[in-house]
Amino acid sequence: MTILITAGPTREAIDPVRYLTNRSSGKMGYALADAAAQKGHRVILVSGPTEIDVPDGIDFIPTESAADMYQAVEYWIGKADIAIFAAAVADYRPAQIAEQKIKKSGDTLTLELVRNPDILGSARSTFGFNGVLVGFAAETEDVEENALGKLERKGCDLVVANDVSRKDIGFDSNENEILLVYPDRIVPLEKASKHHLGHQLIEVVEGMITPSNH
Ligand code: CTP
Ligand code: CA
Repeated sequence: MTILITAGPTREAIDPVRYLTNRSSGKMGYALADAAAQKGHRVILVSGPTEIDVPDGIDFIPTESAADMYQAVEYWIGKADIAIFAAAVADYRPAQIAEQKIKKSGDTLTLELVRNPDILGSARSTFGFNGVLVGFAAETEDVEENALGKLERKGCDLVVANDVSRKDIGFDSNENEILLVYPDRIVPLEKASKHHLGHQLIEVVEGMITPSNH
């Protein structure tokens, strides 16, 4: 099967030398890409900037901003049977990118930000994707309730939820503890390495393929 995975943070330029980003390391998305490739799937990895080496044997599509990632996913998603959105996409970007480096002046600086498109939220509605759709939910409170809301709003078959306020798991960690949030049930997975969870998750999504979405 062909599996499209988004991974890593995005970078939203402020001026030629500065950008807004977040703490995502990309480790979870790359672990998924590795696991899927090892199981013989074709993997299309659409990734924001990370420090991780590109896994062997995959189609790697490097991106920077949320807008770049949106365009790459729009182009590639039609080839996928399964799409897993593990990227930490910036929700907002600077309204303008200054052409020259912004010089300091005054004691405060106000940046105006505008909303980025929701890539996962566009998969069904705008890109017409009808394969297995998996989102992630990074939460710091009300994890189950928020994840279920995202699942419904974005038309996902599964949302992988994690609590990013915990220091021992999540963003930059090698470990994670996740909840599988389905429309009708929630299945907690034991805390484990992202490598191990990557393999577990690929098995889970393989099991979700039915004749209608393959
Ligand atoms: N996502 C996306 N494009 C965006 C924002 C989020 O594709 N512009 C995807 C993420 O890759 C993830 C899911 O949507 O799979 C949820 O991301 P998250 O940041 O947890 O949720 P948001 O919908 O952005 O809501 P909020 O940040 O307000 O909680
Ligand atoms: Ca967000």
